[in-house]
This record gives sequence, structure tokens and C-alpha cells, in this order.
Amino acid sequence: MTVCSAPGKVYLFGEHAVVYGQPAVPCAIERRARVTVEPRSDDHVRVEAEDLSLDGFTVEYDGTVGDHPDVDVERSLLDAAMGYIDAAVSQARDAAGAPNAGFDITVESDIPLGAGLGSSAAVVVAGIDAATRALGEPLAPRELADRAYRAEFDVQDGQASRADTFCSTMGGAVRVEGDDCEPIETPNLPFVVGFDGGAGDTGALVAGVRELTEEYGFADETVRSIGDVVREGEDLLEAATSGADPDAELLAELGDLMNFNHGLLSALGVSARSLDAMVWAARDAGAHGAKLTGAGGGGCIVALDPTPETETALSFTQGCVDAFRAELATEGVRVEV
Ligand code: MEV
Repeated sequence: MTVCSAPGKVYLFGEHAVVYGQPAVPCAIERRARVTVEPRSDDHVRVEAEDLSLDGFTVEYDGTVGDHPDVDVERSLLDAAMGYIDAAVSQARDAAGAPNAGFDITVESDIPLGAGLGSSAAVVVAGIDAATRALGEPLAPRELADRAYRAEFDVQDGQASRADTFCSTMGGAVRVEGDDCEPIETPNLPFVVGFDGGAGDTGALVAGVRELTEEYGFADETVRSIGDVVREGEDLLEAATSGADPDAELLAELGDLMNFNHGLLSALGVSARSLDAMVWAARDAGAHGAKLTGAGGGGCIVALDPTPETETALSFTQGCVDAFRAELATEGVRVEV
């Protein structure tokens, strides 16, 4: 039995624009997906995923990637999750040169699905790592990140960046621009997350932004402006002391950039009433800045606030079902057992 875990993430800056080659800075957070893999003697894949939604589910399929039987549960999010697990199995089989390898897989996760915290990337990264290790063919971190990216790319119909999967593999803060991915130093940022209980459809949201950029030059300009915001933010992080608590001036400057980033994402149509309500509740409570995180459409916002005020305010905000402080996860994917 091999157990690996990988962290979720928040975007300090740059989601969506990163799909068009602009830089982005996601930061791994201490919410993890754990994947347990036990090789089987046949080519079947059995998946148990109690925590992926409110309804636990178990699916057995016949080893043909992409083919699994109907099961009697609410399916849309679970189908998406199964798509990512299928893709991870494919990548692990390919990497290990074992096209017929079968597995019993258990997925446990405390990252809400499809909510902008990198749940799918964490499942894919931990899944490929656990499956390749179980087959005796562990991957180096950059190859693992690349395989996980290819899995997401396949599931999202070619519309994915390397940001989520690289961040989940490496942990800490990372900078991603096209194929260029590097860990970066960061101060100890006081992230607070608000969750509306919902989820966005990443593929549809990314496709919607693409349509806008194809139709309107100013939408394309908006994507480039997000890149400018990210570059300003990177300069601030570079000048700061890594691992230290940031001073109020730095938090104010980063917060302004987060607010700007949220406005640009709203202009691209990927915010939602619930996300805007949480963003404003955080700002009103004194957060230095707040923005949606991830694909948007519903899910989570991230705010910067070293005090308890924002978390408290969010927990009383209509439409917010969970508010919590998110510590930076300095460790990326790891073997648990
Ligand atoms: C989704 O978490 C982030 C997006 O930028 C898509 C991607 O980077 O693959 C919207």
C-alpha cells in the first residue's frame, strides 16, 4: 500500500491570464488530498472516494480509461473527479511502462472540489506519485509535475496551465509563465479563505474567457493587464524577506494588487455574486486585499489579513459556508506511508 498526499493552493495573482502565457503566482496551502494505491493482480481500477463530495461513492471500472459504469449518486462533480483520476491512472501506467496495471485507489481530501483551491491538481499529483511508487517507478518532482499537467490538460480539453500542478508538486509559492516554472521565496502571507459551498466549471470558465479575448481586443488587454499586476506583485515579493511576517506596508501594497486582480477577473466574467459578496465582506472587515482564487464562477476567495477580523466577518457573511486561515504549505507532494 502506498499513500501520497499533495496540497491545494490559492492564487495570490494570475489565474486565467496564466493560460495565455502571462505569469502567475499560486501558493500551496495546508489542505491536502491523500491518495492510497494498492496494485491489483488484474487490470481493473477500483476507486473509493468518501470525502470528494457530501455523498461518498465507490466506482469500479474495467481498466479501460474513460469507461466506468453509472452509479447512483449526484454525478457532475464526481464525474469531473473521476475524469482526473482516470487521467492520473493513464499517466502512471505510461510513466511506469505498465499499460495494464490495475489498482485499488482510495481518495480522501479536505480540499473542496472545484472551488478554486486546486483539488483536482492535488488528486492528480498525489495519485500519479502513489501509483508510480506502487509500481516501483517513482518520478522525479519535475517529471511528476509535467505528467500531472498533461493529465489536467487532457481532462480540460487542452485548456490548462502548469500552475496548479507545479504548485501542488513543489509546495510553497511558485512562479509559472508558460512552460517556465520555478519555486520562489515568499514572506509568511496571512491568507484567509472564504468558501461559498459551490464550485465552478473550470473548462467552461476558461473557454468563456477565450471567447471574450477572441471577440474583444480589450478583453485581450485585460488578460495582459493581469500579467502586469502579477509582475508588480513579484517585484514586491522579491524585495521582501522570505519566511518573515510581512510588514503593514507590504501587505497594503500586495492587497491593492489583489483587489486590482479581482476587478480584472470580474471584467472577464469569472466572478460571481457570492464571490463578490465575500470579497467585499473581507475588505470591509479590514483585509488588506481580497480576490477570487482559481477558475471562479463560485467557490473560494482569498484575502490577506493577519488579524482574526476577516475570518470572523466572513463566517457571518450570507453565502459563505466556511471561512478559515490557510497556512502556506512549504512541503509539496509527499509520501505518507
Ligand atoms: C484554475 O485553478 C486556474 C486557471 O488559470 C486554469 C489553469 O491555469 O489551468 C483558471
